[in-house]
Amino acid sequence: MPPVFALPNDAAVPLHVLDQDSCADWLEQQPQHISHWAQANGFTGACGQALLIPNTDGKPALALAGYGTGAQRARRRYVLAAAAEKLPQGTYAIASGLSHDALNIECFGWLLCGYRFDRYREQSAFKANLIAPAGVDAAAIESLVAAESLTRDLINTPASDMGPDELQRAAETLAEAFDASITTIQDDALLAQNLPMIHAVGRASDRRPRLIDMNWGASGPKLTLVGKGVCFDTGGLNLKPGASMGLMKKDMGGAAAVLGLAKAIMAANLPLQLRVLIPAVENSVSGSAFRPGDILTSRKGLTVEINNTDAEGRLVLADALALADEDKPDLLISIATLTGAARVAVGPDLAPFFTDDEQVATALATNAGPSADPVWRLPFHTPYETKIEPGIADLDNAPAGGFAGSITAALFLRRFAGDSRYVHFDIYGWNPTPAAARPKGGAGQGTRALFAALPELLNL
Ligand code: BES
Ligand code: ZN
Ligand code: ZN
Repeated sequence: MPPVFALPNDAAVPLHVLDQDSCADWLEQQPQHISHWAQANGFTGACGQALLIPNTDGKPALALAGYGTGAQRARRRYVLAAAAEKLPQGTYAIASGLSHDALNIECFGWLLCGYRFDRYREQSAFKANLIAPAGVDAAAIESLVAAESLTRDLINTPASDMGPDELQRAAETLAEAFDASITTIQDDALLAQNLPMIHAVGRASDRRPRLIDMNWGASGPKLTLVGKGVCFDTGGLNLKPGASMGLMKKDMGGAAAVLGLAKAIMAANLPLQLRVLIPAVENSVSGSAFRPGDILTSRKGLTVEINNTDAEGRLVLADALALADEDKPDLLISIATLTGAARVAVGPDLAPFFTDDEQVATALATNAGPSADPVWRLPFHTPYETKIEPGIADLDNAPAGGFAGSITAALFLRRFAGDSRYVHFDIYGWNPTPAAARPKGGAGQGTRALFAALPELLNL
């Protein structure tokens, strides 16, 4: 169960969130036993500090949480979460100290402290429950938390339990919950229905390749989300070395992200027509594997020379994007753990995105901060088109030289998105360094910035 707010409760402990710069002044104005207790316990209002102050009868009277200084906050994502994780078991109500904007994001972070991936082993529970403060949209925050929890669960689940079949089932479960329709095109039907590159990438695996197609919403602008669903990426015949293969259960992180975003959109009942396309495959090794040097003909008709079977994501996405574009969506979004180059360029915290649409770029930039979902624009640098043109076929899936790997992958995808208004995210999908509300493991990226930008982008 994804974490939720506690029910209103008279016995809740009031929690005061204190800025380090004004902490001493605030304490001075409190009854003496409070300021003494704070002082005796070294409470200064630094980020992550938490303190429960008892009444003279020993029962908790109030709690304090450090909110640090502006400079400290700039170095963190969820400030209150760090304190929340240190508070003893109880139910808390934020009594003072946060602006409305800060409340929204800090509540989201607080609830996410309760996320646990406990499918394979019991995990100790998070014990500090929070009552929704007045003025925040509790249901909206809970639904974003549920969306992120879904994304994390899907990524964290190992490939042994998250193959194309299970990914399809996860999409079907989501569709059922919101009365969406869902179909899949599997195996040889991929060839019959002209999705040849999805078939080629996935055909070596016993766990058969497919395209998942979910549709929801009867009217309004058309939004299509495409997520990379490579359930495990061995690299194919261009096998990844062990260290690079270790984390490749997360290569369906784009699919996990779009399913989370779809869940948030449907829960908010946004007035739009949503389509989610997920090519779900395993990039495996067997006698039927596609090979380096092969030339594939894509759905769109463009031929693609395979220079490296490890550049498989762009192949399966290309057919899905071509199909998406045929339907002329008002906005087309792809999310994919597409390149190691993106990770090198911006690291695991920032979600790099590409778009030719200035309104999309501006809307993402302005909504990233308030959503605590940092994004960074990288260029669709058209002069690099020559790098993906090998000569013997229309396109090359893995340009030699390795320059600008995230950009050339994005340019490859753009060829298939046609005239659609298009934005592509090349995410890492994984948090390698645990922090408050952000455990090591699967992570949704770009989705909350996108969710917040949608009303403006689609005139909702
Ligand atoms: N799934 C990987 C990209 C990846 C690797 C994302 C590590 C995050 C972390 C993708 O399929 C891949 O292997 N891409 C190659 C492309 C290259 C062969 C042109 C890469 O980035 O090295
Ligand atoms: Zn790969
Ligand atoms: Zn991959």
